[in-house]
Amino acid sequence: MEITPLVGEVTVPGDKSVTHRALLLGCVADGETVLRGALRADDTESTASMVTALGARVDWGDDVTVTGVADVASPEAPLDAGNAGTAARLMLGLLAGRPGRWVLDGDASLRSRPMSRVTGPLVRAGAHITAEGGGAPEGLPLAVRGVSLGTTSHEVTLPSAQVKSALLLSGLVADGPTTVVQHVPTRDHTETLLSRFGVRVDREPGTTTVHPGRPVATTLDVPGDPSAAAFLAVAAALTPHSEVWVRGVGLWPRRTGFLAALERAGADVMVLARPEAVGLDAEATDPVGDVRIGTSGLRAFDITAEDVPDLIDELPVLAIAAARASGTSFFTGLGELRHKESDRIASIAALLEALGVPVGVDDDGLTITGVPRFRRPGPLVDLSDHRLALAALVAARSAGFALPTPPSITVSWPGFDEVLARLG
Ligand code: S3P
Repeated sequence: MEITPLVGEVTVPGDKSVTHRALLLGCVADGETVLRGALRADDTESTASMVTALGARVDWGDDVTVTGVADVASPEAPLDAGNAGTAARLMLGLLAGRPGRWVLDGDASLRSRPMSRVTGPLVRAGAHITAEGGGAPEGLPLAVRGVSLGTTSHEVTLPSAQVKSALLLSGLVADGPTTVVQHVPTRDHTETLLSRFGVRVDREPGTTTVHPGRPVATTLDVPGDPSAAAFLAVAAALTPHSEVWVRGVGLWPRRTGFLAALERAGADVMVLARPEAVGLDAEATDPVGDVRIGTSGLRAFDITAEDVPDLIDELPVLAIAAARASGTSFFTGLGELRHKESDRIASIAALLEALGVPVGVDDDGLTITGVPRFRRPGPLVDLSDHRLALAALVAARSAGFALPTPPSITVSWPGFDEVLARLG
């Protein structure tokens, strides 16, 4: 297959992190929440189906409308988070202090992921969460019996937005304020959205306090997902004679580490922030902009532990970029990747090997030596993790070979293959 350039303008699906959170807050909010530009994909449909099981109403049209409930239902059937770690962990926080009993479950990948990072602090604050059938609440399926939580202060040492968010959401129904101290900054969508839903949130660097109160429904614009834009950015950088404009991308500082990494690699990237406000509350506008990226001769670039929280989900596709850069790139401090939808240190290494890229692996790092062209991977490479599948499609597109579309892309980006084809 000939390598055709990627040229044109494109938008990406709505942000996944924001869509999950807005659905969860809409579930317990007073009134009808309207989400414009929300992501509709397997992961957010899992959240929507749990929200529906809790008694709220979700209508998917051009916009998503969520009609919230004051008292969430306790269905007999387990709440199914599917493949969505964010949905599962945030749901644990949302439910822990509410009256009722729920079983929370997920698919095989999600069952293998650690939940104790969230259940540990919640249980220490008085929550009743056990392994379904008894035992320590390490992983799904878990049973939650809601108990009222008091004033609590949590110190979170893991640089995880999911943990911080779950604890903040548990504070909505606590008897007093809930404070979360996290010294490493992580994406702050929960804090921002809580404010948008009228909940009192006090924020200082490293410390967030949520005051109990029922969220009030609102209307939100969900910006394009920067994690999705990263796939197009790398595809355009690696494909000869390409120039792509990705319009309307959320440019939250804690989400744009991949742009800084690509700049360090010498990529031809330009970011135009849009001045106009997104959303209705001028005080809490989301930064949005357009990203232009053209074909780039990349040089090796390093990723360190400090960079990781700001580009955690972009590491699979950044590894594809490093695999075509001149020289050897060192990615370190990647330990958290072992707990994603797959063990991403291992699955990135396996994909790179299948593409003919020399790669070294250690406990929490990858060493990647760039090659001038990728080899077509054999059929055995495991692409059941959506971000690996999207990264593999980027590699294939840039090298001019066809790859059957892995079904897992529907977890976060149904139709990514068509976008790549259309830009050609
Ligand atoms: C997310 C936080 C990150 C990220 C995940 C989405 C979120 O996880 O990897 O895809 O929406 O809060 P951690 O908080 O575990 O790093």
